[in-house]
Amino acid sequence: MCGIVGYVGPGSAIGMLLGGLKRQEYRGYDSAGIAVIDDAGELETRKRAGKLGVLLGDLDGDSMPDGHTGIGHTRWATHGGPSDANAHPHLGDGGRLALIHNGIIENFAELKQEVLDAGGVFTSETDSEVAALLVGSLYRETGNLTDAMRRVVTRLEGAFTLLVMHQDEPGVVVGARRNSPLVVGVGDGENFLGSDVAAFVEHTRHALEIGQDQIVTIRPGSVEVIDFSGAPVTPHAFEVAWDASAAEKGGWPSFMKKEISEEPEAVAKTLIGRIHDGAVTLPELEPLAEVLDDIDRVVVIGCGTAAYAGMLGKYAIETWARVPVDVELSHEFRYRDPVLSPRTLVVSVSQSGETMDTLMAVKYAREHGARTLAICNTQGSTIPRESDAVLYTHAGPEVAVASTKAFVAQATALYLLGLYLAQRRGTLDGAQIAAQLAELQDLPDKLDQVVDAASARIAELAHWMGDTQSVLFLGRHVGYPIALEGALKLKELAYIHAEGFAAGELKHGPIALIEPGQIVFVIVPSPRDPSSLHPKVVSNIQEIRARGARVIAIAEIGDVAVVPYADEVIRIPFAAPLFEPLLAVVPLHIFGMELAMAKGLDVDQPRNLAKSVTVE
Ligand code: AGP
Repeated sequence: MCGIVGYVGPGSAIGMLLGGLKRQEYRGYDSAGIAVIDDAGELETRKRAGKLGVLLGDLDGDSMPDGHTGIGHTRWATHGGPSDANAHPHLGDGGRLALIHNGIIENFAELKQEVLDAGGVFTSETDSEVAALLVGSLYRETGNLTDAMRRVVTRLEGAFTLLVMHQDEPGVVVGARRNSPLVVGVGDGENFLGSDVAAFVEHTRHALEIGQDQIVTIRPGSVEVIDFSGAPVTPHAFEVAWDASAAEKGGWPSFMKKEISEEPEAVAKTLIGRIHDGAVTLPELEPLAEVLDDIDRVVVIGCGTAAYAGMLGKYAIETWARVPVDVELSHEFRYRDPVLSPRTLVVSVSQSGETMDTLMAVKYAREHGARTLAICNTQGSTIPRESDAVLYTHAGPEVAVASTKAFVAQATALYLLGLYLAQRRGTLDGAQIAAQLAELQDLPDKLDQVVDAASARIAELAHWMGDTQSVLFLGRHVGYPIALEGALKLKELAYIHAEGFAAGELKHGPIALIEPGQIVFVIVPSPRDPSSLHPKVVSNIQEIRARGARVIAIAEIGDVAVVPYADEVIRIPFAAPLFEPLLAVVPLHIFGMELAMAKGLDVDQPRNLAKSVTVE
């Protein structure tokens, strides 16, 4: 989960690298560094612990010579804490070679010993430095940077994206990847490398995917790709679907606030082109067409917020398509020896498409005969490439580390999948499908209402609660994943202990946590649905109020039953039961952000986190 960038071309390498790192800083921000081959042919590096701003300040105070070949790195620390010495780039061949790395080299200890035994000297605690020294010593032997890279990466185990350059080869940057992201930006007389397209989208929207175990060599006028055996590869080209401005704050105080405001649009854009005449059309699922009707089980995998979206999908798919659905955390699924068959559809949910836990679970599922479908928000990312088919969400770039608009887009895609399966299986008739699709299409407007109506009051509440130490969240049925999501947001944004519970579970133990003044958010189902759990949730509220809890209810406009039992009611428009969660989650996203702001915290880049967790 680091951000990497490479550049070759007539432009300012320093300018291109710092711009690319700035757009990828959400991938990790423990340290940052760049290396360029200057116009005198010397390799220059500068690296500093801390966020990119620290490096920028250092360069402002003490400029470094510029050039037209460079690599840059913004780090999320794995081996070795955040420090200048552990920052990338790392050097080899006596300082004539620079290398940056995203991932974990699992066999670095034995390789490090080999280098030490050969007289090598390490200056850092990182695993990455061993790759720099190995490529450097091989370059001295071969004089060919691509070949030196290839001979080293075939010895590495684990997950890595490596970029390397050598001062004897200005105009050349070589990249290699295994289980870690790498994409190429193809410019006019210039070329780019990045962890994701954000690295270069302001310069070009023409991109190339670099696949598993592939090596790319970029020069200003050429891009050459080979596999680890040395055989040439023709990379898949694609056009980046969004422009640079979409990844900018655009005047918003934070990416978080901007992206919450984009939740309605994220749903709307994910629906575009997929509903025709009251029916669902998903041509992206063509690769699964022959097997889709025989699927007898769905397993939805993901991590964090993506997993909670998966939980919503479970309710929808089972209700509509009558197919059994399990939802599992990717990192648990892969290691529990799950029972899979060719009639199992494993659906991965991932905003970044690079989450290593989920990627490895997808690979495991395929290796064990299951069919795989990726629900992903990032074009050209790895998980879709490793899946049989992909259903992209179109939430646009999500830069804030805490996921918001991607969540509602993921749920939307899962609902479309559920209705598509129901359509193919005939478990819903045309009128029923059309009615559910109408509910989906009503969501963007309703979400707009929630964002507009809830924000001011929640901001006041958050500032009043600035010193709270614990918040609980309760929800039933589809409200339960929302309770979990609301708790996660508070943990990752405001650094507050928060826990989500199934409301029915409270009396089986957790109610002991309730003491006078305990703040509890409750997601209240609509009272309009006769089978709703509304009365039971109101009873749950009474149980905790009787013990002194301060209750903030998320409830439908017009629901008067909750008023006597809640200290605060945040109103949301009516929506059918399965759709209410996509409205109820927004006040909780806003609350997490506002409480973090009340505490003066960085809502876009919370401590200890990274946007894409590309290590297991
Ligand atoms: C969500 O706010 C967190 N940042 C985190 O839980 C995230 O959802 C999880 O790491 C999965 O990321 P992905 O969707 O990119 O796979």
